[in-house]
Amino acid sequence: MTQTPVAPAVDIDWSTLGFSYIRTDFRYLSHWREGEWDAGTLTRDNVLHISEGSTALHYGQQCFEGLKAYRCADGSVNLFRPDQNAARMQRSCDRLLMPAPSTEAFIEACRQVVAANDHFIPPYGTGGALYLRPFVIGVGDNIGVRSAPEFIFSVFCIPVGPYFKGGLTPQNFITSPYDRAAPHGTGAAKVGGNYAASLLPGQEAKARHFADAIYLDPETHTKIEEVGSANLFVITKDGRTFVTPQSPSILPSITKYSLLHIARERLGLEVVEGDVFIDGLDAYAEAGACGTAAVITPIGGIQHGDSFHVFHSETEAGPVTKQLYDELVGIQFGDRAAPEGWIV
Ligand code: COI
Repeated sequence: MTQTPVAPAVDIDWSTLGFSYIRTDFRYLSHWREGEWDAGTLTRDNVLHISEGSTALHYGQQCFEGLKAYRCADGSVNLFRPDQNAARMQRSCDRLLMPAPSTEAFIEACRQVVAANDHFIPPYGTGGALYLRPFVIGVGDNIGVRSAPEFIFSVFCIPVGPYFKGGLTPQNFITSPYDRAAPHGTGAAKVGGNYAASLLPGQEAKARHFADAIYLDPETHTKIEEVGSANLFVITKDGRTFVTPQSPSILPSITKYSLLHIARERLGLEVVEGDVFIDGLDAYAEAGACGTAAVITPIGGIQHGDSFHVFHSETEAGPVTKQLYDELVGIQFGDRAAPEGWIV
């Protein structure tokens, strides 16, 4: 295969970073064989050599995470809630019958990758961050539909800017006729199959000039679930309540739960995890997509069938969305006090 050369960090234009693969110097690699993880090591090689019978290739036995490291004003580096990513990876691994790294091993791997790639962390003030992509895959010779004999846990990183272009500029979305995940399926696990299922709907949405697809609940198609690449929240017309959809087929976004905490504890809002009916959008003044990659992307409007609902504005983020964004990003970059345990 063609190998991407390592991007010399000095050549990176931090101000124009988007969300694309940039090969960095080091990644962490650990193998699980005969019931245990090895010590793990940093490697310069960005290619995996695995059996053609690997369950990750045929049966989707794999999961991944996304978290970021932020350069602070004093030059130090913040990891945002890595224990939550470790815990979610453990739940994803349980769902797919894979061994998971312990929380300590997960955080240590992230620490090592960040330290070894320090020169790829975007400078404070550019808005960029170092995105870490931990994953676990089933590998080893196999062909039956069963759990793999061996596993790999790896963490690589890339410097990134906004996932949806424009940062705090609102984006429009369209509801998808496809389901992202089944009612009792793997929607709550961060597994590749959910994202594979979202590729075609995403492409169809983009072909119609929307930023991405919004999925409705797979059982009734009346309630908003999530964006696929991000979760979603809305703010009621009176500006006093933060509402985010609740469903067993939504991926539990760490950013979403952090915003829920910020909305309640710092903005004094009511918070509700509940139903957001696609035919009831008139009740809301603002909406946003939220996730590690998306941060907060204000939603300008949602197309559903023939109707297009505009929230606050198609060109400017609403006031509560801005407050949530400032508070979240302020905590991540070390400019505002973080709740206990959020920053490593
Ligand atoms: C993240 O926000 O970290 C994600 O994993 C979303 C994505 C698939 C880019």
